[in-house]
Amino acid sequence: MKRSPLLSWLSRETAEMHRQLETTPLLSKLLGDSISLEEVSEVLDRFLWAYRPIDRALEDALSQFLPTCRTPPRTPLLTADLAALGQPSRKHEPVTFSSPGTLPETLGILYVTEGSTLGGTVIAGRLERSLPRIPRHAFSFFSLGERESPSLWEKFLMIFPSAPASGDFSQELLRGATRTFRHFLDAFSPRDSTISPSDPQTTRLSGQHLAESLSP
Ligand code: HEM
Repeated sequence: MKRSPLLSWLSRETAEMHRQLETTPLLSKLLGDSISLEEVSEVLDRFLWAYRPIDRALEDALSQFLPTCRTPPRTPLLTADLAALGQPSRKHEPVTFSSPGTLPETLGILYVTEGSTLGGTVIAGRLERSLPRIPRHAFSFFSLGERESPSLWEKFLMIFPSAPASGDFSQELLRGATRTFRHFLDAFSPRDSTISPSDPQTTRLSGQHLAESLSP
């Protein structure tokens, strides 16, 4: 599907943030050969932290600005994947992500969430190879992009305008996208791992689930 000049502009303007995100230590491990189950769980957990308020913000904004547009909330997928990996979701500090106040800001947020499914498809394929004993259904969040036809990204392209209605429109669009990228950068910024050897949840993950996934 052909890209509009507006989308190409948005993509260029945010390319550096995308680069920063995919090269954060935790996310860059997803494409390597040596990711552990604990690291995948931590990635999912950080996505869960980020998506809880985004899901709520988008639900409000879509009903207001794009009532015929739907996108699946990511929180239930992430919770289900963590459960399938034997990892109950951890307690998170509450985080806010304010509801967008305009249509272009909503489109900017959707650009990031729907665009991320393109990378998700690549990641799901890599994880299946690097963790072959993990059941496929445990990667429902990453494989969201290939679940339906048309895909979420194709649906997004259908609603995305070919030209901005005004200069303000482009700025609002960019603002929506950059604050969403920033929110994900916060989620994946290096910090002390939430996993520690004495954490009973971790013990359960390695002991219980690994045993399950390794059994024939
Ligand atoms: C290891 C992590 C990631 C990898 C390897 C990755 C990889 C990719 C790939 C291969 C594409 C498709 C590019 C194309 O077809 O031209 C893509 C697109 C995109 N990804 Fe990521 N991605 C990652 C993480 C993320 C995250 C966490 C987000 C945001 C939450 C994100 C947002 C986007 C967006 C918005 C696009 C569409 C860009 C565009 O073509 O305009 N990505 N990514």
